[in-house]
Amino acid sequence: MCYRGKEWYLVLELLLLPQLFRVNSIQARSEHRVFAVTGSTTSLDVPKPGSYQRFAWIYLADSQKIVETNVNQQPTWFQPALQGRIHLENNGTLNIYRVQKNDSTEYLLQALETSGVEQESLFLLEVHDPVSKPVIKAEEKKEENSSCYLKLLCETSSKSVNYTWYVDSALSQQEHQNAVFEIPLKPEYHPKSFTCKVSNPASSQSDKVYFIPPCDVARSSGVAWIATWLVVMVPVVLSLLLP
Ligand SMILES: *[C@@H]1O[C@H](CO)[C@@H](O)[C@H](O)[C@H]1NC(C)=O
Ligand SMILES: *[C@@H]1O[C@H](CO)[C@@H](O)[C@H](O)[C@H]1NC(C)=O
Ligand SMILES: *[C@@H]1O[C@H](CO)[C@@H](O)[C@H](O)[C@H]1NC(C)=O
Ligand SMILES: *[C@@H]1O[C@H](CO)[C@@H](O)[C@H](O)[C@H]1NC(C)=O
Repeated sequence: MCYRGKEWYLVLELLLLPQLFRVNSIQARSEHRVFAVTGSTTSLDVPKPGSYQRFAWIYLADSQKIVETNVNQQPTWFQPALQGRIHLENNGTLNIYRVQKNDSTEYLLQALETSGVEQESLFLLEVHDPVSKPVIKAEEKKEENSSCYLKLLCETSSKSVNYTWYVDSALSQQEHQNAVFEIPLKPEYHPKSFTCKVSNPASSQSDKVYFIPPCDVARSSGVAWIATWLVVMVPVVLSLLLP
């Protein structure tokens, strides 16, 4: 590199700039939990809008700097391994592309306002695999004395998930929500549907089955209706086609 005359001063000024900042006070550190699905793009935003002169993003665990920038100048990168997967916006937002499970850690943002006040924000990034779509199966159907007992199983290949069951889109009152859902139904009570939602903090998927009285479930509420419709419609269509 070769700098001459006035450019030298510019370079010197840039090098000295960080030392010239006067940090008047550090305000309380704010904390933010961020959940992301493996492979997606995650943006860590400066929480408080304001006028900033400098941003620094740091891995909290080992105090390793990721990137540092004086606003409107080229950022300095400290983690070559992240190159191409990470980008800093002018407003301080840190974008991480194609996030991986091992990006889950604590990120510290130090943002220096033009007034000299430093804002510290802590981001706890948790990356989870997307949950796979569940399928509800009827494990048991018992009809007795015109009462119905159903035992439904919500199957998914995802491991660490939470289950939530809904009866007619209302949260079920069953205390422990897990893959198995037991429903004793009173003779007069005919719910329309049961839904199982599997979720982790970053994503969710659900499946729904329809109640078919007196004591069964089906993947579609339309089955019985379509059958009736065909029985009625086929002769009508036939009679229209025949002269
Ligand atoms: C920062 O800038 C990016 C790109 O212009 C924008 O998408 C994002 O919403 C901005 N974030 C904030 C907190 O203003
Ligand atoms: C993070 O995981 C990816 C693949 O999942 C791997 O290629 C990369 O080396 C890992 N990085 C670290 C720092 O362990
Ligand atoms: C059904 O009725 C029979 C005879 O009234 C009784 O013995 C049985 O316990 C009843 N079953 C249930 C599940 O209520
Ligand atoms: C399941 O729910 C509990 C309580 O809301 C939560 O703490 C936990 O992180 C959840 N686990 C998953 C895998 O979503």
